[in-house]
Amino acid sequence: MFGLAQAARRAAVALNGRRLNPGIRHFSAALNYHLDSPDNNPNVAWEFTEPNKERVREIISHYPSNYKQSAVISLLDLAQQQHGGWIPVSAMNKIAETLGMAPIRVYEVATFYSMFNRAKVGKYHLLVCGTTPCMIRGSCDIEEALLKHLGVKRNEVTKDGMFSVGEMECMGCCVNAPMITVADYTKGSEGFSYNYYEDVTPKRVIEIVEMLRRGETPPVGTQNPDRIKSGPAGGNTTLLSEPKPPPCRDLDAC
Ligand code: FES
Repeated sequence: MFGLAQAARRAAVALNGRRLNPGIRHFSAALNYHLDSPDNNPNVAWEFTEPNKERVREIISHYPSNYKQSAVISLLDLAQQQHGGWIPVSAMNKIAETLGMAPIRVYEVATFYSMFNRAKVGKYHLLVCGTTPCMIRGSCDIEEALLKHLGVKRNEVTKDGMFSVGEMECMGCCVNAPMITVADYTKGSEGFSYNYYEDVTPKRVIEIVEMLRRGETPPVGTQNPDRIKSGPAGGNTTLLSEPKPPPCRDLDAC
């Protein structure tokens, strides 16, 4: 499977007429290991907030008491929202303690799923879809425009802490490729949002960034004014009339 994915990616790059920048790591995850640092080590105290403790209890109640470890992904997600977009090791340890599981089991989940960030991200974490349909439709140009405009490398945070740019694999929106997602950590776990911006262009993603910087909420979904949701640009070209009802036996004639 991995070989096939690589081959598909190479084909997409060739189709897109450009080579990937060899200086950029083309992986979804910024970090596959943990190194202790002053603000990320097991001795830094970490706790869910009081409202989130209630949410933790509610999440765990969805599972049988002997399977509460199944809540690990939801709790990691909540911890990440609470902690401004990333999960320190002490939060993972707290989750392990809460769910009665070995810390390594939590680390395994957090390192496997690329939506969990284990290093700081911006208040707005911009995720460029890098999978084949988006790549064929220009995701390399989208990423390049964002990195250049913000003056950062992938997974680096802008000096004001506002933005970072990461890569995500297919987010199920290929029909409106290329697309980006904006994870908004400005309002904590209460106001967290994860919005899709589709049919984007290098110019449009910069407009979106500047709207976010001004505290505005750009309209989500397709950014192509000629499309409605995932419909064809310019309107339908087929299925223009009401569909005929399915044939039905004349029951009165029986
Ligand atoms: S390939 Fe980008 S959303 Fe599917």
